[in-house]
Amino acid sequence: MNTLSNGIAGRVCIVTGGARGIGGAISTRLANDGAIVAVIGLPADRDRTESLRASLNGSAENVVFYEGDVGEYERCTKAIEAILQEHGRIDCLVNNAGITADHTARKMTIDEWNAVLQVNLSGPFFMIKAVLDAMVAQNYGRIVNISSVVGLSGNVGQANYAAAKAGLIGLTKTIALEVATKGVTCNAVAPGFIATEMVAAMPPAAIERAVASTPVQRLGQPSEIARTVRFLLDEEAGYINGAVFNVNGGWYM
Ligand SMILES: NC(=O)c1ccc[n+]([C@@H]2O[C@H](COP(=O)([O-])OP(=O)(O)OC[C@H]3O[C@@H](n4cnc5c(N)ncnc54)[C@H](O)[C@@H]3O)[C@@H](O)[C@H]2O)c1
Repeated sequence: MNTLSNGIAGRVCIVTGGARGIGGAISTRLANDGAIVAVIGLPADRDRTESLRASLNGSAENVVFYEGDVGEYERCTKAIEAILQEHGRIDCLVNNAGITADHTARKMTIDEWNAVLQVNLSGPFFMIKAVLDAMVAQNYGRIVNISSVVGLSGNVGQANYAAAKAGLIGLTKTIALEVATKGVTCNAVAPGFIATEMVAAMPPAAIERAVASTPVQRLGQPSEIARTVRFLLDEEAGYINGAVFNVNGGWYM
C-alpha cells in the first residue's frame, strides 16, 4: 500500500515533450490536479514551459523544466538523476515526446528513418530504463506511452513513424509483463488526429481528409488525450496493465 494520500496529488510525474501540444495538455492537467510535473524537453521547450507555467492558475510552481533529449540515453539518465535528487521519487512517466519525418518508403532517407526511430521508440525505452529501478524500489509506478492510431493502421508516408508507434505498443506490453509484480503498470494511448502543431504542419487537404474520415467529424483536442492519460496514471488504475487505449473519434476501431 502506498503512503501518498490520493490518486495523483503529490506524485512526481515526468512528461517528455511536456511543454506544448498533447504533452502541454498532460502537464497542465497533472499540475492542476496537484502533481509535481517534471517536463523533459529540448532547449526550445524551456521558454514553452515558461509560457505554460504562466497559463496555469495557482499551480505554476508544480511544473519544473529539465533539459534533455530522449533520443540520447546519457541525457535521459542525467535528467532522471536530477529529478530524483530534487524530488526523491518518480511515480509516473509519460513518454510523449515525438517527431515526424514523412516520405513514402521509396523516398524516405535512412536519416529520416533513424531519427524517428531514435526519438519515438528508443527514446521511450531509454526513459523507461532510466526510471525503472526507482519505481521498482518504491514498489509503485505508472508508465504511459503515447503511441498513435497509425501504429495500428499504418499510414502512407509514415513508415518510420508507424513502425516506431507500433514498436512502442510491443514495448508497452513487455514492460507491463516484466514489472507487474512490482507495483508498476505500463499502458499505451493511441491518439487519432489531434489539433497540435504536429498536425498543423500537415497539408490542409490532408487535414480535411482526416476530419472527413473520422466518424465524429473533427480533430481531437489535446485535453481529450490528457484526460485519458490522467485516468491511467491514477493510483486506482492499478488493474489496467498492458492496455492500448484508442482515442481517435472512431477513425480506427
Ligand atoms: N498530434 C497528433 O495528431 C498525434 C496523433 C497521434 C500521436 N501523437 C503523438 O503524441 C505526441 C505529442 O505530439 P504533439 O502533436 O503534441 O507534438 P508537438 O510537436 O506539438 O510536441 C512534441 C514535443 O516534444 C518535444 N520533443 C521532440 N523531440 C524531443 C526529444 N528528442 N527529446 C525531448 N523532447 C522532444 C518537442 O520539442 C515538443 O515540445 C507525439 O509522440 C506524437 O507522435 C500525436
